[in-house]
Amino acid sequence: MDKKFKRTLVTTALPYANGPVHIGHLAGVYVPADIYTRYLRLKGEDVILIGGSDEHGVPITIKAKAEGVTPQDIVDRYHKIIKDSFEELGISFDIYSRTTTDIHSKMASDFFRKLYEKGEFIEKTSMQYYDEEAKQFLADRYIVGTCPHCKNDHAYGDQCEACGTSLNATDLIDPHSAITGNRPILKETKHWYLPLDKWEPKLREWILEGHKEWKPNVYGQCKSWLDMGLQPRAVSRDLDWGVPVPVEGAEGKVLYVWFDAPIGYISNTKELLPDTWEKYWKSEDTRIINFIGKDNIVFHCIVFPAMLMADGSYQLPENVPANEFLNLEGDKISTSRNWAVWLHEYLRDLPGKQDVLRYVLTANAPETKDNDFTWKDFQARNNNELVAILGNFVNRSLVLTHKYFNGVVPEVGELTDYDKETLKEFTDVKGSLENYLENFRFRDALKEAMNLARIGNKYLADTEPWKLAKTDMNRVNTIMNIALQITANLSIAFEPFLPFMAEKLRGMLNIEECEWERLGNIDLLPAGAQLNPAELLFEKIEDDVIEAQIKKLQDTKKANELKNFKPQPVAENIPFDDFLKLDIRVGKVLECTKVPKADKLLQFKIEDGMGGRTIVSGIAKYYKPEDLVGKELCFVANFEPRKLKGVMSQGMILSAENPDGSLVVIGPQGPVVPGSQVK
Ligand code: MF3
Ligand code: ZN
Repeated sequence: MDKKFKRTLVTTALPYANGPVHIGHLAGVYVPADIYTRYLRLKGEDVILIGGSDEHGVPITIKAKAEGVTPQDIVDRYHKIIKDSFEELGISFDIYSRTTTDIHSKMASDFFRKLYEKGEFIEKTSMQYYDEEAKQFLADRYIVGTCPHCKNDHAYGDQCEACGTSLNATDLIDPHSAITGNRPILKETKHWYLPLDKWEPKLREWILEGHKEWKPNVYGQCKSWLDMGLQPRAVSRDLDWGVPVPVEGAEGKVLYVWFDAPIGYISNTKELLPDTWEKYWKSEDTRIINFIGKDNIVFHCIVFPAMLMADGSYQLPENVPANEFLNLEGDKISTSRNWAVWLHEYLRDLPGKQDVLRYVLTANAPETKDNDFTWKDFQARNNNELVAILGNFVNRSLVLTHKYFNGVVPEVGELTDYDKETLKEFTDVKGSLENYLENFRFRDALKEAMNLARIGNKYLADTEPWKLAKTDMNRVNTIMNIALQITANLSIAFEPFLPFMAEKLRGMLNIEECEWERLGNIDLLPAGAQLNPAELLFEKIEDDVIEAQIKKLQDTKKANELKNFKPQPVAENIPFDDFLKLDIRVGKVLECTKVPKADKLLQFKIEDGMGGRTIVSGIAKYYKPEDLVGKELCFVANFEPRKLKGVMSQGMILSAENPDGSLVVIGPQGPVVPGSQVK
């Protein structure tokens, strides 16, 4: 690490405690932050990983109202789910706390007070929507109305989700309160604003001049914000959930959630280290790294740093590695549409497979552009990479050592040129791994670690010790010694990425955790050391496991379609006589077969009380012919007969159409004589 720094403080964006975390959060923030922290720990550096739940904000109050519980109930529920699932995935937080603790309220409140007393805020009054019946100001999310752009009548005061436009509450046509349904009035209210414009020159210098090394997506977003010019930003809200604004005349007002949440990084550090937390936040030899998703860039690179500058006693972050988004099976992950793989469900459905998820999310990390998670890719990476390369190599080295040497590490003899070449290649891995890890390029780093296993696999495949065992045991000694040294190196190289695997591997090799510095050494296992029995590190994931997950997502999609279903507008009125022109009858299916060379069509023989008739219908996708035989249905009897794929059809079978386009045949609910008229 840079000589300038003596310690590192790593933070991860605090997830909102209004839902569980999903693979998008993990790939964007928590897995990379954990890899980075584990790496520094393994190097023996002074590093802490700080996390916690973001428990304030309007969406939490909305969810609580909808469920008829308190906001505290909501955050208690999700904080526990989130915390437990992070722990089970091996995200090695030094502390995972929350923003509803007393320590946090006090810290956030004191922070505001200090800025207030220093005169760092502007007080402004503005007109805001107010619900006279509920007697409260309405947060943007509490105002519903018609979008001026697309006319969606369910747009919110901050955004229309139908067309994606961000809105001001006063843009909405026909606004009404989501609490009472009343039309809100505009009423004067006072708020405190942080003048970001005051800090603009300093921010420009700090980011645009001082941190050209930041990831291009982060740097680019900052530059475009700064170039647009910064405005004062309100840091308080009229709301009854949050940290109260600690000044007189602020009754019923709380700190804006984006003001208090980042202070959570500080208060959680204080909760962890009550006596020494300031060393991590206020001394120049601390390196602060904020891992976040791309939607958080402006808050972490502009707003929070401006708050820290206004306070004057804090260090600014050294880097803010933000990832892009991870999609799921080609669609944007969405909490409201339940389009996600939820971590707690993954852990329940695929127990013991933490490292597989960590591996796939790192290999596919959306580091430079949005990326896609698919279950097929998940299966392929497990079966073709973790099982076939890493697991296979480790298993071979251990099993062969047990077979030929009763599990004792053999002596290394004279090295061939090929041995030397192999050793050289794998000692090079350390340097490139470090370079990638220190530059937040975790995908490349993982590839490099995997390369070590590939080298080992190839080495065994090329040298074929199982053949030499019959003729040249001396050579087998050397080959297996080298294979075992590579195996031991894997337990170091993979520790940041796949900690569960690394621990299991150390158990088999009968070694303690090794320091990072020893990576690349070829004497990690001394000759004569006794190994433990070999166990499989990874197992193949079968198709049925993957299909079950895909089915779950398909069911979600169906459920969403149902939820979003808007019936067609009703057609123009018609006189009763027009209806009477349609002759609808009940019939009974005597025979039903597929129409050859027409995959949509079924051919029916219908008992109609008039000698029977043939009807062709386009419902083959939704029914097996044999399932309809004997059933009663309704059909239009007086259609002009017409030929369909060579069959003369005498009528039309009635069916109802689902939102997904699937058809369901309509029939009588009680016994009816075939040929009866439907009126
Ligand atoms: N809760 C926010 C989100 O999920 C992130 C808050 S990060 C913090 O988008 F810095 F404010 F804590
Ligand atoms: Zn719209």
